[in-house]
Amino acid sequence: MSASNLAGKKVVIIGGCGHVGLPLGVKFALAGATTRLVDIDEKAVATVNSGRFPFLEKGGDAQLREAIDLGLLATTDAEECRGADAIVFVIGTPVDEHLNPKLSAVFTIFDAYTKYFTEDTLVVMRSTLYPGTMEHLHSRIENGGYSARLAFCPERVSQGYALDEIDSLPQIVSAFDDASFQAAAELFGHIAPTIIRLSALEAEMTKLMANSWRYLEFAIANQFYMIAESKGVDFFKIFQAIRYDYPRAKGYKAPGFAAGPCLFKDTMQLASFFDNQFAMGHSAMLVNEGLASFAVERVAKIFGGELWGKNVGLLGMAFKPNNDDIRESLSFKVKKGLEFKGANVLWHDPYLEDSTPLETVREKSDALVLCTPHSDYESLTFQKPLVDVWGTFHQPELEVFPGKKSEPEANLRLVNE
Ligand SMILES: NC(=O)c1ccc[n+]([C@@H]2O[C@H](COP(=O)([O-])OP(=O)(O)OC[C@H]3O[C@@H](n4cnc5c(N)ncnc54)[C@H](O)[C@@H]3O)[C@@H](O)[C@H]2O)c1
Repeated sequence: MSASNLAGKKVVIIGGCGHVGLPLGVKFALAGATTRLVDIDEKAVATVNSGRFPFLEKGGDAQLREAIDLGLLATTDAEECRGADAIVFVIGTPVDEHLNPKLSAVFTIFDAYTKYFTEDTLVVMRSTLYPGTMEHLHSRIENGGYSARLAFCPERVSQGYALDEIDSLPQIVSAFDDASFQAAAELFGHIAPTIIRLSALEAEMTKLMANSWRYLEFAIANQFYMIAESKGVDFFKIFQAIRYDYPRAKGYKAPGFAAGPCLFKDTMQLASFFDNQFAMGHSAMLVNEGLASFAVERVAKIFGGELWGKNVGLLGMAFKPNNDDIRESLSFKVKKGLEFKGANVLWHDPYLEDSTPLETVREKSDALVLCTPHSDYESLTFQKPLVDVWGTFHQPELEVFPGKKSEPEANLRLVNE
């Protein structure tokens, strides 16, 4: 693949209408490739072909329509893989009920497409993979009586912002031989600013360790929040004090529900890979998941421990702010916990069609829980009790005074007065 753009090249994305597959397909199409998005989800395929993203993606529809004008097509027809220069797999890689990777899901889908592989086909895995999966797929190809150039090029974007981030993030590329590496580096070189070469195992672990690290960062914030609040101390005052003019704490995360389709399961994949000796990963999971129960207890406390028959309103059901994705959202765990204690739960989310209107939720609820701090809620004021683990509506004033060193003549007075 050596041209100034990808004109004349055919790229097929398996899982092409998903959260990662679609933005990637748009970028390949805009870079000139004949791009086909193969997906089993007929509704998503129709939505994409009508020029709309099936989910929220910043700048999505405009770039999608541009890509469609250049020939991008979504389809359920796997035969589109025939004659492809590159087949990119972007399918889900979940964990099972025992928190181990569901490897069979990856292999079954991979096997279904091997009949389209030739020795010139570049086969790219873009999903987040359990370490060793690439080695296994490589052996599967070598022992399966077919050939292909195999590469692993993990996606690292933040959901909802993929179109911006694909343009700016370095692309990790790994392969088992130079020719496959070159082919993959060249393909991604058309859409990414930089290429980082790693071994397959290094690349698999890089992705999992990046996500686990993020999950742990949220966990420590949530742990400190629960420690302070359960001792009757205002955590958000501590939070401000830690960060005030203290450069080392710049990256200190605020508490909040940490969930979604990636961080939890990727941390568990790393734990599974390390024979469940990744104690910090498991602890992070307990803390992050435990924050939902903590919020339920906070609501119960408002009513002296008795929730039966109370109306509780949840604000936000998506797993993160300003997004419509509810996969693995802790809002549902809060809902379940409240209902188990006998509360009637009403909920609102500006991004979900079946949402109860916000005013109805606010009016009918005896108490509210801010589950997802969407920007839409920023201007709200509350007359009813609110449980807000994010601190969005609770910014306590920090008392800060100038020291003699900065202003020798100053009296002790509040800096932020
Ligand atoms: N969501 C993110 O922001 C993000 C970011 C980085 C990495 N990842 C990783 O990317 C991978 C995909 O995640 P996602 O969020 O895009 O998942 P997704 O569920 O949104 O997309 C997967 C797509 O694959 C399709 N599919 C399933 N079986 C298929 C088959 N047999 N043939 C064709 N298509 C099929 C589904 O219909 C779906 O559209 C995962 O490994 C995830 O961990 C996700």
